Amino acid sequence: MILINGECKRQIEISDRGFQYGDGLFETIEVKNGKPVFFDRHLTRLNTGCNRLHIPVPDPELLTAEVFSLCKDSDQAVLKLIVTRGSGGRGYRQPDPIQPTRVLSLHPYPDYPLAHKEQGIAARFCDTRLGLNPLLAGIKHMNRLEQILARAEWNDTAIQEGIMLDINDHIIEGTMTNLFYVKDSSVHTSLLTHAGIFGIMRGIIMEILSDNEIPISERLFNKDEFLSADEIFVSNSIIGIWPVNQIENSYFPVGPITKQLQSCLERFKSEAEASRP
Ligand SMILES: Cc1ncc(COP(=O)(O)O)c(C=O)c1O
Repeated sequence: MILINGECKRQIEISDRGFQYGDGLFETIEVKNGKPVFFDRHLTRLNTGCNRLHIPVPDPELLTAEVFSLCKDSDQAVLKLIVTRGSGGRGYRQPDPIQPTRVLSLHPYPDYPLAHKEQGIAARFCDTRLGLNPLLAGIKHMNRLEQILARAEWNDTAIQEGIMLDINDHIIEGTMTNLFYVKDSSVHTSLLTHAGIFGIMRGIIMEILSDNEIPISERLFNKDEFLSADEIFVSNSIIGIWPVNQIENSYFPVGPITKQLQSCLERFKSEAEASRP
């Protein structure tokens, strides 16, 4: 099921700047029990992205109504929400006025094995590096060529995620996840001021850590520091938290802080669900 600017259709103008230039933003949202999970947070990140790219923010009431009507009959699914700058303009020059395009589509929830959550996953380092751009860092814009090239580096189905470094050898994130490591009971996650996406799940994990008085630092670190971790885990809105039990020749246990965060996240999600209208 797809809604384009509120209409049930599947075709988009080829002049749309999302298609022409990747001139837009997207959100990938878990749908559970007929409702989008952490929708307010996704809407906030989308609005931040629109402001950063100077795309008019979609009317939140209209968008919310469309999203809820699309999700209402799904027990579990994935909702993809795209907002582009719409059609028009000459070359890179923006159209005036800008009439954004909204695309909402519902997809089956991926059937990841439970073992990924319980026993962890294997990951690898990608050769494809992330460029640095403070203007675009953090937002979920549509230009994802670096992630696409990185994901094309492996086909081994035993490897679930690729870890990406920036051009200065700092570990930044997974191809589709944010990264955390635990060392001596403190949690570390990459500073995303120059590359990477501020994940919704990353934000929630950071809130849970501070609520539980577990030290968390956002900083730049290299491969050696990362591989000396006691525990490693990755996160996104669809998978929640997956422990990483192997990166190439290094092995990691599914440790106590990762397990604590997984159970806190379950509680956090149920509370958020219970408090939703
Ligand atoms: C490159 C990248 N980083 C991080 C994330 C995690 O973001 P979120 O927690 O909002 O799903 C994603 C999710 O798709 C991603 O593609």
